Amino acid sequence: MSPVQFAHEPLPARIKRKARALLGPMALFLKGFVQHPAMVGALVPSSQRTIRRVLSPVDWGNCRVFVEYGPGVGTFCRPVLERLRRDGVLIVIDTNPDFIAYLQATIRDSRFSAVLGSAADVVDIVAAHGFDHADHVLSGLPFSTLPPGVGPAIMAATRRVLRPGGAFLVYQYTTHARQMMAGYFERIDRGFEPVNLPPCVISWGWKG
Ligand SMILES: C[S@@+](CC[C@H](N)C(=O)[O-])C[C@H]1O[C@@H](n2cnc3c(N)ncnc32)[C@H](O)[C@@H]1O
Repeated sequence: MSPVQFAHEPLPARIKRKARALLGPMALFLKGFVQHPAMVGALVPSSQRTIRRVLSPVDWGNCRVFVEYGPGVGTFCRPVLERLRRDGVLIVIDTNPDFIAYLQATIRDSRFSAVLGSAADVVDIVAAHGFDHADHVLSGLPFSTLPPGVGPAIMAATRRVLRPGGAFLVYQYTTHARQMMAGYFERIDRGFEPVNLPPCVISWGWKG
């Protein structure tokens, strides 16, 4: 249905359509959690306040290559695309094929690329897109419940792929990721967002 058709839509139908549009991704996210609780690690997507706070230190004018780990149903993807330069790229990496298929079907933007794979392979994935580094990397990964060894492998690969001056932007429900980041990043800025389910610990790890 085109936006012109929506203008004549009766109110109850409009409410139902909006509810369906909202519940679609929420239901997919919940299904992902039920099937892979340790990999998804959250019952609902991040809040708008969390999105704004996590992205707040990014200098978008100097950001060409932005990578996101664990996009889920794309809570951060649209806000990142709204801020990203016209010649920028957003590469998102997730291990869940349902999430990747959903993102590929719903986000139509030539700057966007959704890759089925592990964040541990970020160096190769960024290289496959024709770049030798990322300006910033964002992560919603549940580091505390990932299989043994995966967290440190992702930290090391992230440090390798970031340009000097780039940041690893991490939000999690515990300080687990922040403790792990200390071994890989020179400076870690700290934040906390209470308006999130559950409240969320934010860490910005800067390289160089
Ligand atoms: C907490 S959810 C993401 C929430 C979402 N970014 C948001 O803001 O609502 C964690 C995501 O990490 C993904 N994931 C888990 N392990 C991964 C890995 N090794 N590489 C990439 N994605 C992974 C899961 O499939 C899931 O989509």
